[in-house]
Amino acid sequence: MNAIVEEKALQPQARPVARYTWQAMALHWLLAVLIIGMLVLGYSLEDIPRNTPARGFYVNLHKSFGVLALVLVLVRLGWRLTHKPPPLEVAMPRWQAVAAAWSHRLLYLCILLQPLSGYLGSSFGKYGVKFFGIELPNWGWEDKALRGFFGGVHEAVGFVLAVLIAIHVLAALKHLLIDRDGVFQRMLPGGRKT
Ligand code: HEM
Ligand code: HEM
Repeated sequence: MNAIVEEKALQPQARPVARYTWQAMALHWLLAVLIIGMLVLGYSLEDIPRNTPARGFYVNLHKSFGVLALVLVLVRLGWRLTHKPPPLEVAMPRWQAVAAAWSHRLLYLCILLQPLSGYLGSSFGKYGVKFFGIELPNWGWEDKALRGFFGGVHEAVGFVLAVLIAIHVLAALKHLLIDRDGVFQRMLPGGRKT
């Protein structure tokens, strides 16, 4: 009885929430940093003049971290498909819960398609893919049209991904600063675990 009274007296922010497991959190934050960094690096490539050593260096850096992102995305998807997220015990309009679920699905789709299209585009290009200096298998052959096609997919998905991340971060900040309903804390260590 006392526990119930105490729980009700707590501010929404202080109420303990069901959280993601540490594995889910580690993968989320590692990939968040990596993918935001990759978007910044990808768009910065456009400012580096072609056929210069600096461009070769940064494109190879982009491909190497991109392959690392692909591996981590596959681990994360495998983890997610075999583990349920913590129950959402937070009161919110139904449309918001549905929008959150669909935006998460779209984020997963984009973070899978983005490195895959990058790898495929490079596989149909002249230089292939090196992972920090180690030559990786080519998934194609030299073909300008296919290189262009996957390059176009890479550019379009990159844009959708950037927009989705902006919405995702704004929504997370709204939960943290305005709603104060504990949704943000679900992805932070400490407190009650599921
Ligand atoms: C999560 C992973 C990745 C993200 C977020 C990402 C993002 C981007 C962005 C925003 C651009 C600039 C827009 C464009 O020109 O398409 C770009 C360009 C590019 N990316 Fe990625 N990328 C990723 C993974 C990869 C991978 C795995 C490869 C290849 C193995 C790759 C190869 C390239 C290449 C070759 C370019 C074009 C450089 C040029 O302008 O010639 N990317 N990437
Ligand atoms: C500063 C940046 C970020 C913040 C503050 C943030 C915050 C959060 C929070 C609080 C959740 C839990 C939502 C819930 O309980 O339902 C979450 C989930 C998620 N985030 Fe982020 N995030 C960030 C960046 C990213 C990025 C860059 C990506 C992917 C590109 C991403 C992908 C996801 C996905 C897919 C989920 C759903 C997890 C699941 O249920 O499987 N997040 N994020």
